[in-house]
Amino acid sequence: MFEHDVLIIGAGLAGMRAAVEAVNRGANAAVITKVHPVRSHSNAAQGGINAALTDRGDDWTDHALETVRGSDYLADQDAVEVMCSEAGAALIELEHMGVVFSRDEHGKLGTRRFGGQKAARTFFVGAITGQAILHVLYEQLIKANVRVYEEWFVTSLIVEDGVCRGAVTLDIRTGELHTIRAKAVINCAGGAGRVYEPSTNALICTGDGYALAYRAGAPLMDMEMVQYHPTTLASNGVLISEAARGEGGYLLNSKGDRFMLRYAPEYKELASRDVVSRSEQTEINEGRGIDGTVLLDVRHLGRKVVEEKLGYLQEVAHDFMGIDLAEQPIPVRPGMHYMMGGIKTDINGATSVPGLYAAGEVANVSVHGGNRLGANSLLDTVVFGRRSALAAIEYGKSAGAGSRNEDLLASEKKRIQALLDRPKGLRSASVRRELAETMHSHVAVFRDQQGMERAAAKVKELKSAYGKVAVDDKGKVFNTDLIFALELRNVIDTAEAICASALTRKESRGAHYRVDMKKRDDANWLKHILVRQSAADGDPKIDTAPVTITRWQPVERKY
Ligand code: FUM
Repeated sequence: MFEHDVLIIGAGLAGMRAAVEAVNRGANAAVITKVHPVRSHSNAAQGGINAALTDRGDDWTDHALETVRGSDYLADQDAVEVMCSEAGAALIELEHMGVVFSRDEHGKLGTRRFGGQKAARTFFVGAITGQAILHVLYEQLIKANVRVYEEWFVTSLIVEDGVCRGAVTLDIRTGELHTIRAKAVINCAGGAGRVYEPSTNALICTGDGYALAYRAGAPLMDMEMVQYHPTTLASNGVLISEAARGEGGYLLNSKGDRFMLRYAPEYKELASRDVVSRSEQTEINEGRGIDGTVLLDVRHLGRKVVEEKLGYLQEVAHDFMGIDLAEQPIPVRPGMHYMMGGIKTDINGATSVPGLYAAGEVANVSVHGGNRLGANSLLDTVVFGRRSALAAIEYGKSAGAGSRNEDLLASEKKRIQALLDRPKGLRSASVRRELAETMHSHVAVFRDQQGMERAAAKVKELKSAYGKVAVDDKGKVFNTDLIFALELRNVIDTAEAICASALTRKESRGAHYRVDMKKRDDANWLKHILVRQSAADGDPKIDTAPVTITRWQPVERKY
């Protein structure tokens, strides 16, 4: 058994930021991650991080208002105020840690404009912003001598008498299970892209953190809000950053028409992501696409801009499509990118389970509501990663000792052994693909009752089929076959929570657009949807919670 003050699950930006804060404040903190820290999915964040800097003539309240509007008024405004008012300090802190942000011709930190925002307040490192920040935070982690359980997988949270006291974990290298006890746990386990197929997300984004919390009885909030990014590669879902449109790129249909002029006359390609994705999908559905795609054109920006500011995109276009962006438009389509929904937390990362905190994509502090603005996710990770560490340390000071019993460890060993002992059965890869393609067909940019019901029924069927999943590799060392099977359970539980929430919301708001209920209905649905897994029957149970409005009354969104 291992013991810490704070155990942080996940080594993406939220997890590492939390760990650095905790250790620098004297806590005995450790990070557990199923991959090497710099392989975390934050690595893939491209376009930048938002902050309204006063000395640039920008104002955090403008950023906050645009975030609230982008969310289709579902975000909790107290949380948005925290995020946007702390953004400037968080950004400068990253710069001081060593993040080499791109600079403008005057040597000042450069900015680009991102969707749903009037001001250019997105700070960036070319189109590899997440990677740049991740590596700098990893340096800080090493400097602070943080214990990292690297390539360890969390199989279950330890919850005793309703209090979270650590986790049961699998050391992937040895195949041994261990208990890690902690006064507080911060769940920063990242997103759930692989609940969909295709997705911009790495293969590791299997909804682990949502499922751990869901099974532990913590409510997940607004899980129906799944972001489709407007520009992903048709062939494999790889992200083509919003930076391309932020630098001035256009979207064209098969007739060469710049269609966003019709859908969003003011913001055009830089309307919010839900609006741009729906517009593209409408063009495609109405026969003005090209083999299920539209075209992203940056040729008019010239080779210098393409190579200097969008160099990474140029590489992706070349490697996957053989396209030179300076010479040819690239076919793109909306693709699953981000979960706005997540574990319900307060503005300090506390969940409804004492001792359990959450930050980053897996959490729902409620700053993104129905639609996240591009470049607000990196901001969310560092602001709320830090805050959750502060709150977890404080909580830990008065947390009781908890039991020393190893019952959960024993039952997890039994569960995993049963999986290994099953001689043959379903392959986890094909179950996941069937589920993920179903989600993409029915719980995507456009939805309706019948489609969502079909998805929910398929998820239910696959949940019961999970008992027949087998692994071919019976070994202990680096058994990735076993890890995929354990991840599959998380994928299924996360999909269940998404479907149950989506079926509950009887309106269209943000990314949840129902063709059978096209209007936003503030009178009945200006509220959060909570879902938790019932301990009694294992089924999703729904509840609702009010939205916090501080200063911006809901009005119709127009771009
Ligand atoms: O398009 C992008 O670079 C993605 C950014 C984000 O999701 O925040």
